[in-house]
Amino acid sequence: MIYADSYLYMPDLNTPRLCLRKLTMHDAPDIYHYSRDTEVARHVLWEAHRSISDSRAYLRYMLRRYRNHEPASWGIEYKQTGEIIGTIGFMWIQSDNSAAEVGYSLSRDYWNQGIMTEALQAVIAHGFGSMNLNRIEAQHETTNPASGAVMRKCGMQKEGTLRQRLYNKGRYVDVDLYAILRRDYTPQARRGQ
Ligand SMILES: CC(C)(COP(=O)(O)OP(=O)(O)OC[C@H]1O[C@@H](n2cnc3c(N)ncnc32)[C@H](O)[C@@H]1OP(=O)(O)O)[C@@H](O)C(=O)NCCC(=O)NCCS
Repeated sequence: MIYADSYLYMPDLNTPRLCLRKLTMHDAPDIYHYSRDTEVARHVLWEAHRSISDSRAYLRYMLRRYRNHEPASWGIEYKQTGEIIGTIGFMWIQSDNSAAEVGYSLSRDYWNQGIMTEALQAVIAHGFGSMNLNRIEAQHETTNPASGAVMRKCGMQKEGTLRQRLYNKGRYVDVDLYAILRRDYTPQARRGQ
């Protein structure tokens, strides 16, 4: 079982380059800076933000989820600049099955520097540690192989392709489902090997 209330608690998660922390309304300009990019939005279920009002609406939605103790995302703060450069968090959590799904997105300025691998490793450590999860899932469109690379680098295994699993931006898309189990969470997986 998941520890009572433990998944409602979202502490700051620190890594060498990042601080994963709860978002605030002050983060709207940073969120807008990267969420307006249609390349960032291409493989996620939200639309690229058309104005900073969209970013503020997203932040209000996330703050409401924090308040209601619903699964939510951390902002990914790049320590060197203090800027929010992405988000990562749980899409759903099933306490009966001790399972959860992670989702994430990152500013294009920071792609291919190992940032999301660093963030996902921290969230997985929190999931198996404080939250006492048994299974953590993630899924990506088959046309988004960089996301699959992140999952594999964090020790997740591909379990299959779900055909036309999602309707995204006018088309049905195939997704690859990945998961890591508590029993797979070896020291090598922790180090991303
Ligand atoms: C997918 C995403 C999270 C990756 O984050 P990132 O910080 O760039 O990831 P990392 O640098 O940790 O790792 C990226 C890996 O993908 C690989 N990669 C990049 N582009 C690739 C491509 N077109 N095909 C195959 N692999 C690719 C990189 O080589 C790297 O692997 P390596 O370290 O083994 O060389 C980021 O691109 C993103 O946020 N995209 C937009 C939103 C999104 O797609 N979210 C995920 C939805 S499932």
